[in-house]
Amino acid sequence: MAAPLASTSGRLSRRFPFLDLHGQTAELRDELDASIRHVIDRGHYILGPEVAGFEQAFADYCGVGHAVGLNCGLDAVEFALRAVGVSPGDEVIVPAMTFIATWLAVDRAGAVPIPVDVDLGTALIRPDLIEAAITPATRAILVVHLYGRPCDMTAVEEIARRRNLKIVEDAAQAHGAMIGETRCGAFGHAAAFSFYPGKTLGAFGDGGAVTTRDPEVAERVRRLRNYGSVAKYQHVEFGVNSRLDEIQAAILSVKLKHLEPWISHRIALADAMRRRIADRRPDLAPPEPASGTRHAWHLFTVRTDRRDAVRAWLAEYGVETLIHYPHAFAEQPIYDARQSIQAPNAARIAATSLSLPFGPHLSLQDAETIADLFVDAVIAMADG
Ligand SMILES: Cc1ncc(COP(=O)(O)O)c(C=O)c1O
Repeated sequence: MAAPLASTSGRLSRRFPFLDLHGQTAELRDELDASIRHVIDRGHYILGPEVAGFEQAFADYCGVGHAVGLNCGLDAVEFALRAVGVSPGDEVIVPAMTFIATWLAVDRAGAVPIPVDVDLGTALIRPDLIEAAITPATRAILVVHLYGRPCDMTAVEEIARRRNLKIVEDAAQAHGAMIGETRCGAFGHAAAFSFYPGKTLGAFGDGGAVTTRDPEVAERVRRLRNYGSVAKYQHVEFGVNSRLDEIQAAILSVKLKHLEPWISHRIALADAMRRRIADRRPDLAPPEPASGTRHAWHLFTVRTDRRDAVRAWLAEYGVETLIHYPHAFAEQPIYDARQSIQAPNAARIAATSLSLPFGPHLSLQDAETIADLFVDAVIAMADG
């Protein structure tokens, strides 16, 4: 195996895990412990003041009137779809590259996900391809701000308005991402967030939320999360139990206060990595945020044709990487009946994308070292 170039040799005593939240947790430890103890002592564990308080704070953060706390992001996407009127038999436009939860949520709402290819550079749905996928059964466009990068909402909104479709945002990776002054979570008729622990705003367990400007959508999501009930023992539809719990809400309220500086740090890390890669190998096209937007950098994902070899080389030098995601829509066995759908960019991203270590455990110098090692790996694999 070829050794790293001079730019990085001598700095390899460190290992770079993909993500490590210990430092972040340690910084907030006293606040977190106090908030958890407070919930335990109060004795109100389900749908109490912590959930209500977090919902208000998160709605304010997103710039919408309502947030409804849920058990996870998958439920959030499903309930957002159902609450805007997606019903069994409807079709929902989805990107052909995303985490499986996006597509599953459509199925769980009884609808059919219709994949549309994504842009090769951004991995986001291509608005110019949406129109051709619309049929009389189409009810909604489900956009995904993948990796924390906002979709082109101006283009999507124009299509939705003209074709009378609802927009749902899967913002599970996009806490704090913005277009102009508007935060992701405030564009669609409803939006879904995940608070899975590794997310930029993560709980110490599962959690999710729907945000919306529409009080009726919020009310419907509140019913769906609590057995379809409008009042105790009055069940007006088939709901489930998907309530954010008080302890997770208390934890999220503490962390929400720190989200903006955390995102600023992520932006600085991404800038350092992008600059380093572009300086040495501009042909590797590190991800660039679109002007006028704030990429929230949930993930820092690059692409390389020799992905698996590069990944193995990096692992050898202590750099842990992940793949987001290794299979496009048509490659998932549960969806292979629709293999005929053309999404070559999604397939290409699945075969070549590589997410580098990224998060609060890294300093700017770490970010540069990781970027250097990535470039070294690409060079070594090209030579080898
Ligand atoms: C794009 C996307 N959608 C939906 C989800 C589902 O969220 P959760 O894992 O909280 O159910 C995730 C999270 O992993 C995601 O990345």
